[in-house]
Amino acid sequence: APVEPFSVPLTIPPVLAPYRRTGTADFYRITMRRTGVEILPGTRTDALTYNGSFTGPTIRARTGRTTVVQQINALDMPTSVHLHGGNNPVAHDGGMMDTIAPGGKRTYVYENEQPGATLWTHDHAHHMESEHVYRGLSGLYLLRDPAEDGLGLPAGKYDVPLVLRDAQFDGNAQLVYTMDDAENRTTILVNGRPWPYMKVEARKYRFRLVNSCNLRIFVLALSDGSATQHPVRQIGTDGGLLAAPAETPVLVLSPGERIDFVVDFSKYAPGTRLTLANMLGPGPTELVGQVMRFDVGERTADSSRVPDTLATLPALPKPTVERSFELSMDEPGSGGHQAYINGRTFDPDRIDTHIEWGSTEVWTVTNKSATVPHNFHTHLVQFRILERDGQPPYPAETGWKDTVLLFPGQTAKLQLTFDSHRGVYPYHCHMIDHSAMGMMAQMKIA
Ligand code: C2O
Ligand code: CU
Repeated sequence: APVEPFSVPLTIPPVLAPYRRTGTADFYRITMRRTGVEILPGTRTDALTYNGSFTGPTIRARTGRTTVVQQINALDMPTSVHLHGGNNPVAHDGGMMDTIAPGGKRTYVYENEQPGATLWTHDHAHHMESEHVYRGLSGLYLLRDPAEDGLGLPAGKYDVPLVLRDAQFDGNAQLVYTMDDAENRTTILVNGRPWPYMKVEARKYRFRLVNSCNLRIFVLALSDGSATQHPVRQIGTDGGLLAAPAETPVLVLSPGERIDFVVDFSKYAPGTRLTLANMLGPGPTELVGQVMRFDVGERTADSSRVPDTLATLPALPKPTVERSFELSMDEPGSGGHQAYINGRTFDPDRIDTHIEWGSTEVWTVTNKSATVPHNFHTHLVQFRILERDGQPPYPAETGWKDTVLLFPGQTAKLQLTFDSHRGVYPYHCHMIDHSAMGMMAQMKIA
C-alpha cells in the first residue's frame, strides 16, 4: 500500500459559504482549477478541483430555497457541471454537450423542488467526464427538507459524508488514469484521503455514503475482525429517506449511488475498533478489502433518534408505457472498446426514447454482459425499483433511486414518472468509463 491503512485521520470536505443570501436564494461561486493537493501524506498530487479541494466543497441546500452556483472554468479543457440526482431544467442540468469553454463561466440555478437527499456534483463533459471525475471534479450537494428537521436524526457533526472512490498512483504520487482499468485502482480514498480512521463518540452517527468511483462497486459491512455481524440501519437511498429504516448487514453501492445509514456506537465498548470492510474486488483484499476504520471513544449524551417512520413515499401511479433496455459492451479481450444501450452506442444527435410529459412508465433494464457489472442512471427523475429478477426489491432499495446496479445477467424493473421538466436528458451506465465508451442514450420528454 502507498500508505499504512488507518494512519491518516478522516477529513470532512469544507462546507462552501454563500457569497450572498436573499430571502429565497443562496449564491455560490466555484472555480474549477488544477491544484496540487495532499492525498497521500507528505506528497502533492496534481488534481482537477472545484475551488482547490479534493473532494470538492460541500453545498448545503434546502428544499424550497434556490441555489445559484456560478462555475468558473479555469482549466484548459471544457467542463460541464452536473448535479447528480437533481430535478432541474435542461439548461441547468450540466449536459454532456452543454459545456463551459476554457476560461468561460456559467451560472447554474437549482430550484431544489424535491425531497432532502444526498446529491453530488460531478463533471459531465462528453468523452472527458470519466477522466475529469477521476482527477477530482466531484463534490457534495446535501439537500435538506423541513420534514427531516423534525425527525431527530443525528445532525451537525454527527451527520458525516463519506465520499468513496479508488485511485491508482504512480511512484511520484500522481494519479494514473487508464480508461476502463478497474484492476489497478487499488488505493481506496474516503473524502480524498487513503483508508482513513475516524474517532467517534459512543453514540449514534448518520453517515452519507457516496460512491464516486468510475467503476468500483462496494459491498460494505462493519467488522471487528471476527465473524460477528454488525448490522446498520439504512435510512436513505439516492433520492431521499426511506419510508422506514431497514436493518441491513451489508451496504451495496455502485458508482453514482448513495446510501444514508445510522450506526449506534454506544453498543460498543470504548476502545473498540470497527473497520468498514469491502467484500468485493477487483484487487488484492489487503488493499481493496478495507475502506476506513472507526475508533470508538467515550459514551456521550445523545438525544438523536431514528424514528420508525422516516418519510411518506407517494403511491405508484398506473403506468401507461413499457419499454426495455439492454446494456452491453464489447467483451473484454474482443479488441472492441464500445458500449451500447439496445445495441446502439451514444450519438448526441439521436433521440432514443420519446416520452409524453406527465406519463408514468415501466422500464425493464437488463445487463447483457457476460462478466461485467453495469448500472443504469437516469437524469431528471427519481424512480422506484419494482422488481429485481422477478423478485421484490430489497427493503433498502425501496426508496427513491436514480441509479440501479445490475450484475451480469440481472434485470430490474423500474417505475418512472415524467411530470417535472420537459426536454432532452441522458440516461446511461454510471460506471462512467462505460458511458464514455458509449453506454448512454437520450430521452425527450415533450
Ligand atoms: Cu452522475 Cu449523467 O450522471
Ligand atoms: Cu457499465
